[in-house]
Amino acid sequence: MKIIIAKDYNDMSQKAAQQIMSQVTFKEDSILGLATGSSPLGTYKKLIEFYQAGLIDFSKATSFNLDEYLGVPPDNPQSYRFFMEDNLLNHINIPKERTFVPNGMATDVQKECDSYEEQIKSYGGVDLQLLGIGHNGHVGFNEPSTYFTPPTHQITLKEETIRANARFFNSIEEVPTQAVTMGIQTIMSARKVLLVASGKEKAGTIQKTLQGKIDPQVPASILQLHPDCTFILDPEAASLLK
Ligand code: GLP
Repeated sequence: MKIIIAKDYNDMSQKAAQQIMSQVTFKEDSILGLATGSSPLGTYKKLIEFYQAGLIDFSKATSFNLDEYLGVPPDNPQSYRFFMEDNLLNHINIPKERTFVPNGMATDVQKECDSYEEQIKSYGGVDLQLLGIGHNGHVGFNEPSTYFTPPTHQITLKEETIRANARFFNSIEEVPTQAVTMGIQTIMSARKVLLVASGKEKAGTIQKTLQGKIDPQVPASILQLHPDCTFILDPEAASLLK
């Protein structure tokens, strides 16, 4: 476990983007695991800048996103597919047919989960998984639970997650209550994990995740056991570390 304390959000984003650039430079057909949320937004902006400056070529890369809301079509601006295209995928040269996000409109959700997991495996697994972290320690949409979750599955979002994500919707009633997410098992199978977190409100969660006991009630705490995991934090998110 490596912890990097960046100067601020911008520096955190720069450092995360550099790690992704290095991954894609040394393995051009890298399988990237991507995340939504405000934490990785700056990283995506930097990656677009690097791409525009000719520093990085995504033409052989593939991406798999962590999660998607159920019942939200891909052309709806609230969908994670839309978020990814808008904030990264449409601005770099990654082939669209190799950008995967779970299908939130699947009628057979279990089948969608199984085939998403199969697809990840068929590409040889994720080389580098980028993560944000929820206030309750969730990664992807793996909510606090009594056990660490298996591969890609359907999940009912916790009240606190619905409240936290309501800022992206007109009202809390519009926030979907169900999602499909890669499981903790899927995330732990990535060869490299990179988690970005910033801001005071994440400090308690980061302290528990990194220095608390490994506990499925803080799903990200399992990352303590990952053989190649880096946390890039701004000083506020790192402020409660002992
Ligand atoms: C959502 C996503 C997570 C993300 C979390 C935190 O719940 N499913 O992948 O890490 O939000 O978002 P933010 O970075 O905006 O705090």
